[in-house]
Amino acid sequence: MTFAGKNIVLGVTGSIAAYKAVEIASRLKKAGASIHVIMTREAKEFVTELTFREITGCPVASNMWDKVHAYNVEHIALAKLADLVLVAPATANVIAKLACGIADDMLTATLLATRAPIVVAPAMNTNMYENRITQRNLTELKSRGIQVIEPASGQLACGTSGKGRLPEPHEIIAALEGLICAGMPLAGTRILVTAGGTIEPLDPVRYLGNRSTGRMGYAIAAEAVRRGAAVTLISGPSVLPEPAGVSRTMVETAREMHDAVLAAYNDVDVVIKAAAVADYRPKTAAKNKIKKQDGEITLVLTRNPDILLELGEKKQHQILVGFAAETQNIERYAREKLQKKNLDFLVANDVSEKGAGFGVETNHVKLFSADGSVQEYPLMQKQELAGIILDHIAACLEA
Ligand code: CTP
Repeated sequence: MTFAGKNIVLGVTGSIAAYKAVEIASRLKKAGASIHVIMTREAKEFVTELTFREITGCPVASNMWDKVHAYNVEHIALAKLADLVLVAPATANVIAKLACGIADDMLTATLLATRAPIVVAPAMNTNMYENRITQRNLTELKSRGIQVIEPASGQLACGTSGKGRLPEPHEIIAALEGLICAGMPLAGTRILVTAGGTIEPLDPVRYLGNRSTGRMGYAIAAEAVRRGAAVTLISGPSVLPEPAGVSRTMVETAREMHDAVLAAYNDVDVVIKAAAVADYRPKTAAKNKIKKQDGEITLVLTRNPDILLELGEKKQHQILVGFAAETQNIERYAREKLQKKNLDFLVANDVSEKGAGFGVETNHVKLFSADGSVQEYPLMQKQELAGIILDHIAACLEA
């Protein structure tokens, strides 16, 4: 589960422990990850490219100049693709290069270019490991957020005994799993997010809609995936692309959203209703285009189902989060909605305020909790706000 669908770049450097990297690659592959191996020149003295190619089913990158004809510059491509970069075994040499930002081969260039989390598993002779320079380099890596898996103690290939052994593959995988889970507080949580506005047809060419673009809901869905959740996004029409790792269903009307949400409800732990659902729809949608005529036209509107109200009534184990876009009396309306819809949280904003409404990248909200507390946040990017909302949910799940 932890590794499923992840792109892991495995850097293998010139240590006798390189043979253990073969088993690491094999275990990660079996756990559902795609493994992209980068070998240094020295690593190839110990194991062959062919071994990793066969085990991973992916080409092995090594020489920066192999594919000068390709548009896809490999060290940048792998750096971008990676969800995680693991260097195992990591020699004193590669650790030193990483500490100083040297990028003189495919692996070190990838390490410098990636924004993915980096994990290094040092393996070397005890004296090399304990040398002040190596220790200083490891401290430098840790200060930059790079995770270091401590080497084990024991008999070393050089005949001495002490600290410097690469831990066994299953230990490295367990450490990796712990690191991934620590960065993924929502691992194993199933979250349903709704986003965008619904549109309600008047005739085959016209509809009633609203100004919602889906940005807030899409930001929440993307951030929830980054934190390890399994995310279903039910979206009204939106030009935004499907966020990576999210399972998206597109709907148009409030009734379609209602059916899609209710069908998924029992199988999720959290519902975040960021969608702007139309409260009313034209009572009848004309089969043919309505032709203009003299004088006024009267539209008769009828009520749509209140999806969140229904979810609140049927609530079992789920955490429910609602949104409220208001133009006045925010506090009063927010508290009323929180209670009436049986919500755990309600995120309320004043859409008449600049930078806090539809179609912008920012939002300015107050977060009301079922326990009566309220927190106001400054104007911030929707992505940052998504993180705050998910922090509240994670705390609520832990409680
Ligand atoms: N909502 C819903 N179904 C509706 C209307 C709203 O699920 N038919 C959800 C929204 O997704 C949002 C919350 O209810 O999370 C509050 O929506 P809002 O439009 O602010 O409130 P309403 O209950 O519709 O009340 P009013 O329009 O009178 O402010």
